[in-house]
Amino acid sequence: MTAMPQMVSFFNGMGGACAALISVIEYRHLMHNAPGGIAELLANGAETGNLTRLAIMYAGLIIGSISFSGSIIAYGKLEGKISDKVLPGQQFLNIGLFLGIVLLAVLSVMGVLESDNLLYAVGALALAYGVLFVMPIGGADMPVVISLLNSFTGVAAAFGGFLYDNKVMLIGGILVGSAGTLLTIVMCKAMNRSLLNVLIGNFGGGASGAASAASPQGSVKSVNASDAAILMKYAKKVIIVPGYGLAVAQAQHVVHELEGILENEGVEVKYAIHPVAGRMPGHMNVLLAESNVDYDKLVEMEDINPEFNTTDVVLVIGANDVVNPAAKTDPASPIYGMPILEVEYARQCIVMKRSMSAGYAGIDNELFYRDKTSMLFGDAKKMLTELVSELKAMQ
Ligand code: TAP
Repeated sequence: MTAMPQMVSFFNGMGGACAALISVIEYRHLMHNAPGGIAELLANGAETGNLTRLAIMYAGLIIGSISFSGSIIAYGKLEGKISDKVLPGQQFLNIGLFLGIVLLAVLSVMGVLESDNLLYAVGALALAYGVLFVMPIGGADMPVVISLLNSFTGVAAAFGGFLYDNKVMLIGGILVGSAGTLLTIVMCKAMNRSLLNVLIGNFGGGASGAASAASPQGSVKSVNASDAAILMKYAKKVIIVPGYGLAVAQAQHVVHELEGILENEGVEVKYAIHPVAGRMPGHMNVLLAESNVDYDKLVEMEDINPEFNTTDVVLVIGANDVVNPAAKTDPASPIYGMPILEVEYARQCIVMKRSMSAGYAGIDNELFYRDKTSMLFGDAKKMLTELVSELKAMQ
């Protein structure tokens, strides 16, 4: 499940490639029936419908090609095979290239440029644009980009539906396109960013952001499972904050067991769900549903944040960026502006993770150095199992 975004990217890229290839194949088909080349094709193009067909082919080819090459770059970045790269003046290069692609397509459809091979050249330029478009976008913004590329593939497929007059393909493409667009907007909202800012802001570029953000000072307090179990057993209310590490450790079943034991002790237990916790939208909901956690116990960020100041213990399990106060306090931080789970307002905060390593955005977390925070170092599944046995021993 943790590799799901890579897989989504890869499949999405294949969808984009299919949509682009439909345009290429149909263009060849049209040209086959027009020995006089593009000039013959466009003579009386409005009456024969060839003009519309060519316009649709260009649209499908451009969008599909951008989606294909962009998704493959996104896949490489998520796999850690490709790092962020920003060329000097890249924003202008990207805008110039995009306008050039659209201009060439328009001139070709209008019959101003009469080269039979222009469509292939536009396809190649669109592939290059897809690479340049995704390359500089930083780590924490990848989910937004993937969702945007997903909507591109849907739109490109819808153009294929126009071309074949196939309503199933058309409706399917429109559904994917609109769902992808909605998801993109929802994710931008969750990260408190505008889409334009995501696309040209180079936000979340891991290393570069880390260099400029202030590093937290001080020492961390570490506890063992027994201490943590005592704190939770005598609490009235415990909020569990699941993150990527819970998914990696596959600790969803044992966390549900912990929840049951605490409830038997009369402790109120809830889960705080951040919209971008983990590595895909709804990751934590899916993970916890797998272990039959009651859906009513999963509380969205806006609803749970006011509850932290009346909470005795917060147990953060394998989450890092989504509880990093730097998002609110440090304008130099690459996650500045992203709404977070405000766990620092709880009476006690126990953070379960294996080391002091950074999360996805590659930055240190000041929360770990706060007086009210205790670190419970270890693999989430192992430490939760220890917590469960400590609590059972105390019954
Ligand atoms: P992260 O900030 O990535 O932190 C996860 C933490 O889990 C790490 O610091 C790691 O520390 C710990 N960890 C890893 N394996 C563990 C294990 N076996 N046991 C215990 N801990 C373990 O996670 P988050 O707080 O969930 O935030 C998600 C981040 O991913 C955000 O920056 C978000 O923008 C980004 N993102 C989200 C999505 C979506 S749509 N959800 C998609 C792509 C990217 P140790 O190594 O020290 O254990």
